[in-house]
This record gives sequence, structure tokens and C-alpha cells, in this order.
Amino acid sequence: MDIASYLDRKREEVDRFLDTAVPSVQTAPATLHESMRYSLFAGGKRIRPILAIASAEAVGKPTKAILPIASSLELIHTYSLIHDDLPAMDNDDYRRGKLTNHKVFGEAMAILAGDALLTLAFDLCSRADLLDNLDPIRQVQVIHELALGAGNLGMVGGQVLDIQAENKDIDLATLQTIHTHKTGMLIRAAVRMGAIASSATPAQLKQLTAYAEDVGLAFQIADDVLNVTGTREELGKNANTDAQRGKKTYPSFCGVEGARTLADQCADRAISRLETFDAKADPLRELARYITARRN
Ligand code: IPE
Ligand code: IPE
Ligand code: MG
Ligand code: MG
Repeated sequence: MDIASYLDRKREEVDRFLDTAVPSVQTAPATLHESMRYSLFAGGKRIRPILAIASAEAVGKPTKAILPIASSLELIHTYSLIHDDLPAMDNDDYRRGKLTNHKVFGEAMAILAGDALLTLAFDLCSRADLLDNLDPIRQVQVIHELALGAGNLGMVGGQVLDIQAENKDIDLATLQTIHTHKTGMLIRAAVRMGAIASSATPAQLKQLTAYAEDVGLAFQIADDVLNVTGTREELGKNANTDAQRGKKTYPSFCGVEGARTLADQCADRAISRLETFDAKADPLRELARYITARRN
């Protein structure tokens, strides 16, 4: 299969849906909606929604409910990036090829835009009209996965560990815990939400969860490598910022080549978890490869 055209197709579907789901810049409070849309439509890869869709496809034929569910992940991801870039956190000036949200709209509006994106994600997943008669028990499970992946035991918890580890001499096991939470848990939620929406069996959900955990770690190791090897033009964000902020990364433990090898091993392991799945899981297999080979 051609993963590049698959990614393009799915990204366009998600973007079209997001455009209808987020109020226009004319809707009051106009500055809030402008700020939300500024970061949301700045050119993200949409990997988390696409993982949710590909996971749903691996299990069966997804219903229309998959688009609001998948898109909710992008709302949360975008909020996490806006807050991650704030001066109190990573203090970054560029994101997705543009000035960061707080550089354009100010810190207060950036915080509030993040808050609103987070809340809107739960609005989308809880709307009966958008969810195409999804079984209510499954709908509640989907919402639970989103809360778990995004919250104190998931992404936010990982961000806390990441900030607390700055300028500390942490070990590799601690770094792995940071990565599996700050990035891994939302990716795990994406894959599980797609699978649950598509009525996965418990055995399928278990295998897909194992796949997602390996992919999540691979994703953040690749992000660490790109922080060292990429340019601002390629990445759409400043490079070499981890070292400047005293953040330990996989390249600081294993070197760039060692980190690349580890990411590839995670991707191999992820793909091996899908042994019992047929060709409908090929997009998930290709996504695992794409995530480690990507240039941005
Ligand atoms: C960047 O995520 C932040 C991490 C969690 C590593 P992405 O690489 O998915 O960023 P976008 O959404 O494409 O901008
Ligand atoms: C981002 O991690 C994780 C989030 C939850 C946003 P990083 O801080 O390492 O990612 P970049 O390099 O800023 O995209
Ligand atoms: Mg960060
Ligand atoms: Mg950052």
C-alpha cells in the first residue's frame, strides 16, 4: 500500500471534519476562536486521528462515528502543544512552521485556547448526533480512554515528569516513563478508541494496545532524534531545544544512531503484535514504519 497517499487522504478527511467542528473566527469570543484555529490549522500531521482511523479499519469497517472520535484526539494534541510551548514550560517560539500561539495571541489567550480545545474534544465525543448510533456503552468507553490518555495518569502526568526532570541526572528507565506518558498515552488512547468504536474483541484490543505502546515510545524517540538532526525548516519548530533546556533524551543516552536503532526496534515489535490481523491492518503496519522514518 502507498502510505503517503493514505496519510494525505485521511488528513484531508480529518481537516474537513475539524473545520466544521470548531466555530468560525467570526463566532464570539472571536479572538478565542481565532487563536484555537490558528494552532489547529497550522499544518499538523494528524497522526493521532489517523492512528484511530487505521485501528478502526484493522478491526472492521468504521462507521461515521470514527471522524468525531479521531478528531477529538487532534484537539487534545493541539492543546497540549500550545501549553507545551508556553514560557513556563518549553518556552518555544515556533510550532508547525509558525510563531507559537502565545507569541501571537499572548499567554492568557494561549492558555484559554488550550483549555477550550481540551473541552471541545469531550464535547465531540459525547454528541449523540455525531456518533452515528454508536452503542452507548462503547461511547462511554471511548470517552474514558480519552480522559485516561490525556489526563493526570497520561499525557499531563508525563508532562509533569518531563518538567521535573529538567537539569536532573535521570536514568534511562525514568526517561522511558516520561516518554510513554507524555506522548505514549495519547497514542495508546488513539488506537484503543478506534478499536473500541469498531467493536474490537478483548483479544484484538489487547494486541492493538501492545502495538500502540511500542509505537508511542518509537514516536517520542524519533522526536528526540529529530530535535538533534532536523532543521527549523524541516521541523516547523526550533531544533536543538532539548539540550538547551537541559532535557535528557534518547540521543543523550545512546547517541543518534543508537536512538534510531531503538526506535526501529520498537516499530518492529509493534508490527509483530499485529500477526493475527489481516491486510486491513496494513495501514497500522505502515504507520509504525512512517513514524520512525519521518523527517518532521
Ligand atoms: C509533536 O507531535 C509533539 C510530540 C508529542 C512528540 P507531532 O510530531 O505529532 O506534531 P504535529 O501534530 O505533526 O505538529
Ligand atoms: C511534547 O513533547 C509532548 C506533549 C505532550 C506536547 P516535547 O516537548 O518533547 O515535543 P516538541 O519537541 O516540543 O514537539
Ligand atoms: Mg515538552
Ligand atoms: Mg516541547
